[in-house]
Amino acid sequence: MIIAANLKTNLTREKTIKYIKEVENFLSKNSISQEVLVFPAISNLTLHVGDVIVGAQNAYPTINGAFTGEIGYEQLEEFAIKTILIGHSERRHIIGETQDALVKKFNFYKNLGFKIVYCVGEPLEVREAGHDKMMGYISKQYEGIDTSYENLIIAYEPVWAIGTGLTPTSGDIVAIHKELKEKSSAPLLYGGSVKVTNAKEVLALDGVDGILVGSAALYVEHFCTMCEYAQSLEK
Ligand code: PGA
Repeated sequence: MIIAANLKTNLTREKTIKYIKEVENFLSKNSISQEVLVFPAISNLTLHVGDVIVGAQNAYPTINGAFTGEIGYEQLEEFAIKTILIGHSERRHIIGETQDALVKKFNFYKNLGFKIVYCVGEPLEVREAGHDKMMGYISKQYEGIDTSYENLIIAYEPVWAIGTGLTPTSGDIVAIHKELKEKSSAPLLYGGSVKVTNAKEVLALDGVDGILVGSAALYVEHFCTMCEYAQSLEK
């Protein structure tokens, strides 16, 4: 299974290095062979060799150039980063990235062979508008995306569940994942208020190939426990 930590705009470089080291020590001590990804803040990237795959939370679709405040491939290449998160709801809804911009980013990093964790998910008002509207909204987030890309991982993250402590019911997660699996056979993660208290249940659900964890992943021991749960499920 795939267990991913999105550290967002948290931790310093020193704390991030310590975090990744602690996760790796835990994985090797407990013979955990799951795919573990960590997305630190961009300024905390380092050249990393180890069991944890370190990815970028964002980058601009360029090798380099005049894009003030952004980083491009050249800055990722320095740290051998080959994994990127694209389409996270905070980038769609807070930063205002459009589907067109995300498609450009996706294609750029796809052409460079990156592992891409591509996020989809609906805001609360869309969910409340009913199932068809919700699936229609999520379908638009698949537009322009090569759903058969071999290095693609998709994360279903309902916007209203991110950082709120709210989660869909297990039945809802299973039902939505089933529909999303028809759009792509890429591994499909669930994200949105996954905690150490619900991770095992979520990981065990049909159609869930892993989890993308935000706030709860900041507690390194919680994140390690989630990796252990994934191992114990032997899916
Ligand atoms: P959360 O965030 O676990 O804090 O809800 C998940 C995410 O943003 O990927």
